[in-house]
Amino acid sequence: MKKKVLSAIIAAAMSVTMLAGCGSQESAPADTTAQTPDEAPAADGAPAADGEMITVGFAQVGHESDWRTASTNSIQAALSKENGIDLQFVDCDNDSAEQLEAVRNFIEQDVDYIVIDPIVSTGWDTVLTEADDAGIPVIVIDRTIDDSDKYVSWVGSEFTNEGLAAGAWLKAYAEAKGIKELNILEITGTTGSSAEIGRTKGFHQYVDSEGWNLLDSQTGDFTQDGGQKVMESYCKSYSGKFNVVICQNDNEAFGAIDAMKAAGVSYGVDGDVIVISFDACTAGLQMVLDKEINADFQCNPLQGPDCLKIIQALGAGQTVDKQTFMAEPWYVSEDILKEITYKNNSGTDVTEPLVVVDAATVEAAY
Ligand code: AHR
Repeated sequence: MKKKVLSAIIAAAMSVTMLAGCGSQESAPADTTAQTPDEAPAADGAPAADGEMITVGFAQVGHESDWRTASTNSIQAALSKENGIDLQFVDCDNDSAEQLEAVRNFIEQDVDYIVIDPIVSTGWDTVLTEADDAGIPVIVIDRTIDDSDKYVSWVGSEFTNEGLAAGAWLKAYAEAKGIKELNILEITGTTGSSAEIGRTKGFHQYVDSEGWNLLDSQTGDFTQDGGQKVMESYCKSYSGKFNVVICQNDNEAFGAIDAMKAAGVSYGVDGDVIVISFDACTAGLQMVLDKEINADFQCNPLQGPDCLKIIQALGAGQTVDKQTFMAEPWYVSEDILKEITYKNNSGTDVTEPLVVVDAATVEAAY
């Protein structure tokens, strides 16, 4: 272990007390899997001492969505000077090569901790080995890294469950509305990101088991512009042939809705096309309230406080959880289904409530 342990423990204790005193508006993690220090990769990150700040490098995906802005704000608010952290923030602009370079720069600078939200889930083994060899603990947030376990802790979403929940909702909704045939257009997120992989995997389990007609699936790269361009092309190629659009995030849904409006396609609760989205940011939930989006499956971006706690725990030499799942509700426009039941990604049968959006829900959103 590097230097400065004692003052970090004091700083950590103070910060935890401050957080507890202020309360937190962040969602509590839904599930955790403990990892002992022995199982963890080298946790040699130096906590601050003698008034020195803890240095943290954060390689963020980019700035592609409202979700991403909320994620950046959450990390910057938690890993702050007030909490004893000197944060270096790099916006990697959705470029994987740039993200690897950012991490290598952090290693070269010998920061105390590295935080990564991985753009894609593979290609990480070499650079995480380099961080491990340098004794710098890596914390992963949001998306997962699937080809290396050389990180100390991950906190994020169960993307496959989000996709499964969307499928379970669509099945129950179509039955409740007496809709016999589902002709679906899909706009996926950034190809190779665990958010795209998981949501696609979960939703496609229902496409396959229910025999739904998936007309097309193309990436909108998690952007509004991407969603709009894909939907403009869908409206031309599949005119009059589709009754469901599933967008893998809210910004894609905003773009898709603009494209449907321009093409004269009616959508939402009172229209011909059911719109499904993920994220549940403020603007997304406003569109659920306005009955333009039928259902929105939350992806929780508020990982800052958990990330701070992990850094403080590591600095104090404590055990940290290898995995922490964020709690994520499912939001709907109409009060016709109370809950959905499905087999989740762990193989457990779960029944989860559907939250009908009202003005207060939108007000409380991120
Ligand atoms: O990784 C989380 C996803 O990335 C969110 O759904 C999306 O909005 C963001 O771009």
